[in-house]
Amino acid sequence: MIRLGVNIDHIATIRNARGEAFPSLIEAGLIAETNGADSITVHLREDRRHIKDNDVILLRQTLKTQLNLEMAATSEMVEFALQVRPDFVCLVPEKREELTTEGGLDVLGNLDHIGNVVNVLQKNGIITSLFIDAEEDQITAASDLDARAIEIHTGKYAILKSDYYESDEFFQIKDMAEYASSLGLIVNGGHGLNYHNVKPIAWIPQMHELNIGFAIIAQSVFWGLPKAVHEMKRLMQEACSSRG
Ligand code: PXP
Repeated sequence: MIRLGVNIDHIATIRNARGEAFPSLIEAGLIAETNGADSITVHLREDRRHIKDNDVILLRQTLKTQLNLEMAATSEMVEFALQVRPDFVCLVPEKREELTTEGGLDVLGNLDHIGNVVNVLQKNGIITSLFIDAEEDQITAASDLDARAIEIHTGKYAILKSDYYESDEFFQIKDMAEYASSLGLIVNGGHGLNYHNVKPIAWIPQMHELNIGFAIIAQSVFWGLPKAVHEMKRLMQEACSSRG
């Protein structure tokens, strides 16, 4: 069955808006786990705009499933990851001024640097994934570096308003998921996925895990977090069950 990674960064955004200790990241993580999350994702950004170092440390100690740490491939972050030991690291590009992660990592253009980071993390038992666009040369580069996994950036697909199954963006992700899997990579996906567009991506046979944040946390304002997580997982499982 396909896995759901719930990104809880925006629980921290709400908490930080008033400088309070609530809503609690730990409570959010545990509620998400109880309602269908297979892992919990947090992005420790260089500017610490939402998640703080201590959040990651406390989540590591409390979560019952698995912790996926999104981070830039900097020496500061590598040192932190080696200290906290998340189950997974997803390496993402990071520009201070962007609203969210806007494009995939350029693995091909930074082979030596990203290769070293992947090597150090994986040698220390942390399964490492590269967040990349659905492009053949980037996937080949990820495989050449022996990264265990990739996360395909679904952002361009996610901004479509309809006809998901007929779109070029969908076919590109589907074909590239098949290609990556043929190279032995674990294939995950994420960015911009929501209750309307998630099913075609969850239907792709090679998709192992989807990481979803904003849509779930935003919808939880109306539904509550248990239902928001549960409904996303239900849609994903329905699509997964109809795979060929
Ligand atoms: N995957 C990666 C690598 C990301 O950087 C993000 C955004 O933090 C997500 C998934 C989740 O994206 P969204 O919040 O749009 O669901």
